[in-house]
Amino acid sequence: MSIQFREGTEADAGAVTSVFTDSFSDDAINQRVFPANSKQSQANVREWLGAGLKDPHSRYMLAINDSLPGDDAVVALAKWVAPSAPPKAPEAADWPSKTDWPEGADAALGVEFFGTLEKKHKEHMGARPHWYLELLAVRKSYHGKGLGKQLLNWGLERADQDGVEAYLQASPAGAPLYRKCGFEDIESYHVSRVDYTEIFMKRQPRPKPAASL
Ligand SMILES: CC(C)(COP(=O)(O)OP(=O)(O)OC[C@H]1O[C@@H](n2cnc3c(N)ncnc32)[C@H](O)[C@@H]1OP(=O)(O)O)[C@@H](O)C(=O)NCCC(=O)NCCS
Repeated sequence: MSIQFREGTEADAGAVTSVFTDSFSDDAINQRVFPANSKQSQANVREWLGAGLKDPHSRYMLAINDSLPGDDAVVALAKWVAPSAPPKAPEAADWPSKTDWPEGADAALGVEFFGTLEKKHKEHMGARPHWYLELLAVRKSYHGKGLGKQLLNWGLERADQDGVEAYLQASPAGAPLYRKCGFEDIESYHVSRVDYTEIFMKRQPRPKPAASL
């Protein structure tokens, strides 16, 4: 299997929506908040991911299997938000309650879950510059092949070059990989009605190797 990496563009909105939907299909929060059988919900996901592809502070890295046609060629993605992004405004935490959640979506869960992630992100990082891993998703048939780790390391190398922290919110599936790559738990958030634990994590920058004499 030959995999290439490249940055995403606006033309990749359909492909990244497909990777997200496939990758998170077993995730208990995702199943309730973005039901796969709701066309409106899928359109909302595409709009959200597509907006990120246009945002100058967001960097999508894609893993591409060139032997596959069309959108299927994109097999994994990471969305990193660079330290150049302006600190989130206080009202940023309000977007889940202002969202028009489609029929079939558990709106109350979406408001609680994403509202908490936004609130905690601001609480944990404030205005400190950092690289933020907003999304890491690998198609299910590509799990365990090292793609998640390579997409994670892409951002961590930049965090180390910039001498800044990296921050993320870990799903239960993602937490073991992040701990292996140097992230430490800050706080966990248990969503009791779905028995799901999200963990807020950060990683300190690693010093650059000393230049040889
Ligand atoms: C979490 C996810 C991104 C991992 O991607 P992946 O490509 O399968 O992971 P990799 O193959 O790069 O694994 C790298 C290392 O982490 C370990 N690892 C990855 N997921 C693990 C898990 N759930 N439990 C234990 N170890 C895990 C691997 O064993 C590997 O270890 P090694 O470097 O010692 O060999 C992928 O499973 C996924 O997309 N899950 C669904 C969506 C999701 O929850 N994303 C995270 C959101 S925060």
